[in-house]
Amino acid sequence: MKLFVDTGSIKDIESIAALGILDGVTTNPSLLAKEPGDFRQNLKRICEIVKGPVSGEVTATDFAGMLQQGHDIAKIDAHMVVKVPLTRDGIRACKALSGEGIRVNVTLCFSAAQALLAAKAGASFISPFVGRLDDIATNGMELIREIVAIYGNYEFTTEILVASCRHPIHIVEAAKLGADIATCPPAVIEQMFNHPLTNIGLEKFLKDWEKAQAVKA
Ligand code: G3P
Repeated sequence: MKLFVDTGSIKDIESIAALGILDGVTTNPSLLAKEPGDFRQNLKRICEIVKGPVSGEVTATDFAGMLQQGHDIAKIDAHMVVKVPLTRDGIRACKALSGEGIRVNVTLCFSAAQALLAAKAGASFISPFVGRLDDIATNGMELIREIVAIYGNYEFTTEILVASCRHPIHIVEAAKLGADIATCPPAVIEQMFNHPLTNIGLEKFLKDWEKAQAVKA
C-alpha cells in the first residue's frame, strides 16, 4: 500500500520523505492556505522532493473554471495530479481532463455511488473521506469496503486513496481492506512509528550490551 502525506508544509514533507517511506502528497485549499509563499512554487518544490503524485485542488466550482485551473495545475510539474470535487461539474471536468491524459483525483467522496461515478469518469484516484464520516457517526471504513468490492467487480483502474485518516488504525484498516493508498497528516505518520515496547526493548538491549562491555574491560 502506498502512503501519502496530507499537508502543504514543505518542512514536514522534507523530513518524511527523508525516511524513505513516502509515495506522494495530497493537498487541499485549506492546507495550502496555511502556507506562506506562492502556492504554485510550493507545489513545484513538493514535486521535486517527493517525485511521486502530488494532488493540487481546483477552487473553481464551474466546469470551464475547473478546466482552466486544472490545466494550470497540471503545467506545474509532471507529478501533479488535479483534484476536483465530486460534483456534476467536477465529474465532467474529470472526464475531460482524464481524456487529455491529465491525472485526476476526485475528492470529497462520501458514498459508493459517488465513487462509481468517479471511476466511470476516468479518475486516476478517488478520495473517500473516512474521518469526516466517522465524525458524523457513520463508519468511514465501511465505505472503503464497498468501494474495494465495486472496483474489483469491474476491474476499474481508479486507485482508492483513503483520505481524512485521523489515526494509525485508519491506515491499518485501509491496508487490511486492500485500499491502494492512505493519506494522513504528518502527526499520524509520526504515531505509526510509536510503540512503548520498542522503546523499552531498545533501552534493555543497550543496557545489557554496556554492562557486558564493562565486565570485559
Ligand atoms: O485532504 C483531504 C482530507 O484528507 C482532509 O482530512 O482531516 O480535514 O477531514 P480532514
